[in-house]
Amino acid sequence: MNFPNSILILTYFLFFFNLHQKHIVALATIETCLDTFCQTNQPLIRFPFHIEGKQAKTCGYQGFKVSCNENEKTQTLLNLPYMKKLKIQKINYAKQELLVNDPNNCLPKQLLSLNLSSSPFDAVYYQQFTFFNCSFNLEYLTSKYKPIACLSDFPKYVVFATPSLSVFVHLSSICDLVDTVNVPVKSPFFDQVLSSELDDDLRLSWNSPACGRCESHGGRCGFQVNSTFEIDCYNVPPRQGISRGASYAIAICVGVPSLLCFISLLSWICSKFRFGTHGWAWAHGTVADFEALLDPQQYTNISGLDKSTIESYRKIVIGDIIHLPKSNGKTCPICLSDYMPKETVKTMPECEHCFHAQCIDEWLLLNASCPICRTSPTCVPSQNLAQS
Ligand SMILES: *[C@@H]1O[C@H](CO)[C@@H](O)[C@H](O)[C@H]1NC(C)=O
Ligand SMILES: *[C@@H]1O[C@H](CO)[C@@H](O)[C@H](O)[C@H]1NC(C)=O
Ligand SMILES: *[C@@H]1O[C@H](CO)[C@@H](O)[C@H](O)[C@H]1NC(C)=O
Repeated sequence: MNFPNSILILTYFLFFFNLHQKHIVALATIETCLDTFCQTNQPLIRFPFHIEGKQAKTCGYQGFKVSCNENEKTQTLLNLPYMKKLKIQKINYAKQELLVNDPNNCLPKQLLSLNLSSSPFDAVYYQQFTFFNCSFNLEYLTSKYKPIACLSDFPKYVVFATPSLSVFVHLSSICDLVDTVNVPVKSPFFDQVLSSELDDDLRLSWNSPACGRCESHGGRCGFQVNSTFEIDCYNVPPRQGISRGASYAIAICVGVPSLLCFISLLSWICSKFRFGTHGWAWAHGTVADFEALLDPQQYTNISGLDKSTIESYRKIVIGDIIHLPKSNGKTCPICLSDYMPKETVKTMPECEHCFHAQCIDEWLLLNASCPICRTSPTCVPSQNLAQS
């Protein structure tokens, strides 16, 4: 590393961030539709949603039609194809998510006819619930499981919805199975839930139009002028205080010279000790290690493991039931795909962390440590360098 090089890099960064800033400014020239709502306490409606009758059709994206309920306007309703209307509780434009419920306070009834296939929306989390309609032993069943009040007519019949396999087995022997439904729940139940009233809001998300990034920068999304399909981001406010480009530039301006000063000072101190009196023998070792760190070729030579060591690590072929020695979840931390039956996984002997065999083999050829906890095998030379 020398001075002319770092100045070159610095100039490049300044040029690049300048370009980036200009790009954002160039988008801020498109006309906009105004935000609106059904009533002041109701969610703000803007692109991609639009309220029929209140806003021009060009203010909304196809499939995002919203209406207010007939008389009081106390509800903001989402109109989905092939479905009854859903009540919008909240819209998160930046995350491209919304929470919905039933306008008549009987969400399970809507769930039994839920069909999102021809809408732009999908679930963030799905959880499967099975609905049962029971007519016998109602006292006993309602003491054990939570019934859905709005679908039940107590002395005659009671309806339950359960995600639990054991409750499913129990109820299917004494009740009528109504349907099994994928529910777009607000957050997944990690605990064992026996039965649910299913009255909590549903969480839906949309992928297109992708306005989340624009919204999270404080901008607004809309159709390009005279277009009904191409969207653009506009009105992005200028950054407060120091721009990102400037802060990078400052970091580089201050950081690079400081680092160079530090390295020069360190080598000056080291050379002093090396050529000083006989009492400083340890200084040779320090300088050698330090130079090894700076020399990239030497560093790569010592960093990986040899093939025979890698081959010696314990392999496990996954059966139909996935059970690994140390629970690192069901996902390989290197390739981020789930373990499947019949795949081979490998464990690190020091920490027992698991990975796909071919993933960890490639990693270990380049790095001598566990990718999760950085534990190094004890038999590798210069392991303290590999760990640093
Ligand atoms: C949902 O509606 C589509 C028609 O848009 C239909 O083809 C599909 O079978 C329906 N799915 C369910 C589960 O009813
Ligand atoms: C449950 O069964 C009763 C008759 O026993 C019927 O009237 C009712 O509609 C059923 N409810 C559901 C949700 O299937
Ligand atoms: C948009 O269309 C109108 C008429 O259809 C035209 O007068 C106007 O110039 C167009 N604007 C742009 C930017 O193309």
